[in-house]
Amino acid sequence: MTMTKPEEVRRVACVGAGVIGGGWVAHFLARGYDVTAWDPAPDAEQRLRRLVDAAWPALTRIGLADGASRERLTVAATLEEAVADAEFVQESAPEKLELKRDLLTRIDAAAPAGAVIASSTSGYPMTDMQTGAATPGRLVVGHPFNPPYLIPLVEVVGGERTDADAVAWASRFYEVAGKSVITMKSEVPGFIANRLQEALWREALHMVANGEATVAEIDASITEGPGLRWAFMGPMLTFALAGGEGGMAHMLDHFGPSLKSPWTRLEAPELDRELYDAVVGGCEEAAAGRTIADLVAERDRGVIDVLRATGRLPGQATAPATGRGTE
Ligand SMILES: NC(=O)c1ccc[n+]([C@@H]2O[C@H](COP(=O)([O-])OP(=O)(O)OC[C@H]3O[C@@H](n4cnc5c(N)ncnc54)[C@H](O)[C@@H]3O)[C@@H](O)[C@H]2O)c1
Repeated sequence: MTMTKPEEVRRVACVGAGVIGGGWVAHFLARGYDVTAWDPAPDAEQRLRRLVDAAWPALTRIGLADGASRERLTVAATLEEAVADAEFVQESAPEKLELKRDLLTRIDAAAPAGAVIASSTSGYPMTDMQTGAATPGRLVVGHPFNPPYLIPLVEVVGGERTDADAVAWASRFYEVAGKSVITMKSEVPGFIANRLQEALWREALHMVANGEATVAEIDASITEGPGLRWAFMGPMLTFALAGGEGGMAHMLDHFGPSLKSPWTRLEAPELDRELYDAVVGGCEEAAAGRTIADLVAERDRGVIDVLRATGRLPGQATAPATGRGTE
């Protein structure tokens, strides 16, 4: 399969133009691509143009690529027309397995031979979606977060019949298009971020169901607590700092036994030597030479920056956060 070099891609097709597809359209337009969109809903074009118009001031504020223009959006009358010239296709249709399977089969039949095709699915493995495609090797998952024009992360993973080249190509293409990419080796349902979100979500539902916490308390426990750190330092490095100068090793020695306590309904894995070493070693790798003192200073700066940016330092007015979408 001969693909356009990721750095040379000019034409992108977006199939399905709701919240996520429309967000992808806005992102690709802002990065200077020619974008063709297709969505079967009768009011899809007006909705899409409204979404792009609403996003454009924010995209202009963070900086448009040279030549970026909303005029480079074409809304096609058919799926076949939308993907006819595409060098890359992003599918963002409703999360229904049968629908995705059929749609990806049709996109694969209509798109040029060298185009890589990505699905925005929130959780279906590509192995289950690529079964009808004539050339499944070019089908990958490219899972974004809402809104795709602002949240950098895309999780990329192939299915059993996906070519490794297509996965590598998609990861590189997203990077060139300004995204932050995690290329996953295994097709775990929900990928990484949604599994983590889902664990939190299910525990929150248990707590509401049992009258252990209210909705407001659950939200405040994150926005006034760990959420302030997670914007710039993940849960692993953050926990390493809970171990003081001893870092993650001390944290595990100290809190390891509480894995046996009923602090969550999710079962803990056995903290054996292998897991211990993987977590401690992973944190050392992530620290990339920074000492615990460096990380503490970074965390403190970050928390102050987040509090200031959201108007929550003493003396600032509170800026309420609003939004749609779970990922
Ligand atoms: N909303 C989120 O936070 C989020 C985040 C990441 C990924 N996703 C995934 O993105 C995909 C789209 O979700 P969404 O939130 O944008 O949904 P949505 O309902 O806002 O949009 C879906 C769009 O697909 C269109 N559509 C319906 N049938 C179609 C078909 N056969 N072919 C093409 N388009 C069709 C609809 O008209 C609609 O505009 C889903 O797979 C979802 O799991 C959603």
